Amino acid sequence: MTPITRAEPIAAEEAAVPFDAAKVKACFPIFFDNALTRKLSYLDNAATSQKPLSVLQAMDNAVRSYCSPVHRGFYPIAEQSTQRYEQARQTLTDFISAKTSASIIFNASATDGINQIAKGFLLPRLSAGQNVWVTRMEHHANYLPWLFVCDKAGANLRIIELSDNGELDIDGAHGLFADNTAMIALSHTSNVLGTNNDVYALCKKAREHDIPILIDAAQAMVTHSLDVESLSCDFLVFSAHKMFGPTGIGLLYIAPHRLGDVQPLRLGGGMVDFTADTFAQTIWSEPPYCFEAGSPNLAGAIGFAAACEFVNAIGQHQAKQYISSLALQLYQALLDFDRVKLLTPLKHVSSGIISFYHDDIHAHDLAHIMGDAGVAVRAGHHCAQPLLAHFNVNSTVRASISVYNTPEDIVALITALRHAQTVFA
Ligand SMILES: Cc1ncc(COP(=O)(O)O)c(C=O)c1O
Repeated sequence: MTPITRAEPIAAEEAAVPFDAAKVKACFPIFFDNALTRKLSYLDNAATSQKPLSVLQAMDNAVRSYCSPVHRGFYPIAEQSTQRYEQARQTLTDFISAKTSASIIFNASATDGINQIAKGFLLPRLSAGQNVWVTRMEHHANYLPWLFVCDKAGANLRIIELSDNGELDIDGAHGLFADNTAMIALSHTSNVLGTNNDVYALCKKAREHDIPILIDAAQAMVTHSLDVESLSCDFLVFSAHKMFGPTGIGLLYIAPHRLGDVQPLRLGGGMVDFTADTFAQTIWSEPPYCFEAGSPNLAGAIGFAAACEFVNAIGQHQAKQYISSLALQLYQALLDFDRVKLLTPLKHVSSGIISFYHDDIHAHDLAHIMGDAGVAVRAGHHCAQPLLAHFNVNSTVRASISVYNTPEDIVALITALRHAQTVFA
């Protein structure tokens, strides 16, 4: 690999064809910023990703050059901010191949979107005794909202368990597509195991049985090009910050045929055509506006769209191939450690998410030692306690790889792990 010599980040397009890891890394100013970050092996990408210069510049430009209220002003820069915000929505519409931008709702995060659907779609139609299905590998964001609505309605939260190979045991989920299933919600990619679920097959089956299905794509967007029309899901969520965009903004996709079935949860400015002294007189604005109460997040939406453009420029297929190659390097190196147990199935390393624990060293201690060596990993339950309970562990170390990582980052992690073993010997 060519060593990174440039401190000046460059355009993603220049970096991507063919994939040049050094040039891709050079798109991210953080790796050139100061002594600490220049040497950083950032392997915590499943938690949040770093931001390329193109995203930072787009956001800076929005705030610096046309900062003004979206959908609320009649002067030129206000019209510009409205137009740019709606352009960003169109970029997101194209990014997931949605039919209409009415389906694209900007909100705070994937978490926000799941809460909206659990409480604004499912709860009003959920009856006692019905089943809501999730999987054993869900993040709390795609678990607690369903647990909450089941508890409120007297419904049952049912769980698709795992097979020994770390994949979903769909055949063992008896009654998954039965008449009393009110909803299915599952992640595209597990944030702990890295397992990629066959969401296309599950959505197809759910559609055949007319069961609403939500896909949590929070961990999928860098390495998978998702087309919601052929996926035929009812709902899909993801967050910008895990795909090189800013924190504080996410996307909720609502399929066109479901747009009239979801009650807005956040009420306030910009989401009604009319209101007066009684609630009954209130007329919601058309989607997506009825779901975006409050002042829109202009810089967030602009940064989100720039992140999509960055991902497109790199190419999700190329990103996946590169990330896979590094993940395999890490996986194989970890196999040499007798006391290390891997949770990630080898077949799913392409997600770049590798979770493991050490028989003798607590995950937090490992993460501390790695952190001192300049290797950023996550340690803990990863907001997936039902999954960790299944494996009978309280915490794991999770290394998650992205497009700007290098083979040197993998070596740095392995060196730190060896060092940890000498410290705890
Ligand atoms: C699979 C999955 N779903 C949902 C979330 C929640 O994302 P956010 O915190 O951006 O709402 C995460 C975050 O780690 C995740 O990994």
